[in-house]
Amino acid sequence: MNILVVGGAGYIGSHMVKQLLKDGHHVMVMDNLSKGYRDAVLCKTFFEIDMADQAATTKIFSENPIDAVFHFASFIEVGESISNPEKYFKNNTEGTQALLEVMIQFHVKYFIFSSTAAIFGSPNYSPIDERHPKSPINPYGHSKLLVEEMLERFDSAHGLRFVSLRYFNAAGADPEGELGERHNPETHLIPLVLQAASGRRDSISIFGSDYDTLDGTCVRDYIHINDLVEAHMKAITYLRQGHPSAAFNLGNGKGFSVKQIIEAAEEVTGKKIPFIFDERRIGDPSILVADASLANDVLGWTTEYQDVRDIIKHAWNWEKKYPW
Ligand SMILES: NC(=O)c1ccc[n+]([C@@H]2O[C@H](COP(=O)([O-])OP(=O)(O)OC[C@H]3O[C@@H](n4cnc5c(N)ncnc54)[C@H](O)[C@@H]3O)[C@@H](O)[C@H]2O)c1
Repeated sequence: MNILVVGGAGYIGSHMVKQLLKDGHHVMVMDNLSKGYRDAVLCKTFFEIDMADQAATTKIFSENPIDAVFHFASFIEVGESISNPEKYFKNNTEGTQALLEVMIQFHVKYFIFSSTAAIFGSPNYSPIDERHPKSPINPYGHSKLLVEEMLERFDSAHGLRFVSLRYFNAAGADPEGELGERHNPETHLIPLVLQAASGRRDSISIFGSDYDTLDGTCVRDYIHINDLVEAHMKAITYLRQGHPSAAFNLGNGKGFSVKQIIEAAEEVTGKKIPFIFDERRIGDPSILVADASLANDVLGWTTEYQDVRDIIKHAWNWEKKYPW
């Protein structure tokens, strides 16, 4: 297939490009490099373009046959979205609408959307399945939920077939060591813990020690980046087989507390990881774990990396290569 990966210079998009190339697809990347890295783009064709720039995207779609768009481009910092919501609605929601409008004009058939557990807000029950009410508690989650809703309308009106994949916590790195996570600023637990292990950071903060969990720290569901990428491959196959548009929750189904992640990272790295307890953050649910049985049943998707230590091991190999 001819596939355009939007946001393909970022963490998840760059790993996606690598897998698509391995599977023999013709891959192009569009990214404005606001957060991504040019050297993470492994395919030949790269457009340094903002997805909201319709003149530029129109040129791309008019000059290149494109069967499917995989869409990873967005801002992802929850805290920043609370203080600057307009930045998130503008880029994540309006930017995506601008892209979709051009795609429809060129009759692009398939769209795979990176959505997030943040669309659900504070869970009423756990693990979270697709029937769980969608009630985002921050603008980041809201900006993505609006896209999910927009996609349903675009499907009804224009026949755009899509799959929304709601990731819980993407983690780990390319097992071959070529790619990894390098957000700036880094807000994700595993890379922060590993930066503390490597000495790039003095310590890490644990936000809240009195949650109703096994050890009082928040519990999250970590999914290996390659398992996530594999879910996208299953999703595009599903659409190409003629199935209707759909949304799936993606996770390991297992939760790990912040302290358990620190302990696992100490085991993998052989280093002591200093931490300090800090205040709870507003809007941090105690437990966020995915029920991915729908994706297991409908897409035939399962996770290869069940052991969180494997996820940490690959992330550690990447951290040891710093500066990248
Ligand atoms: N990382 C996670 O744990 C996680 C969890 C849930 C959902 N997601 C979703 O997955 C997607 C990818 O996340 P990531 O961790 O790879 O983030 P990332 O910041 O590493 O990658 C995003 C990429 O999109 C690009 N981009 C942003 N706005 C753009 C625009 N207007 N035009 C063109 N390019 C633009 C950035 O330059 C960057 O390369 C996001 O949509 C995010 O909401 C990520």
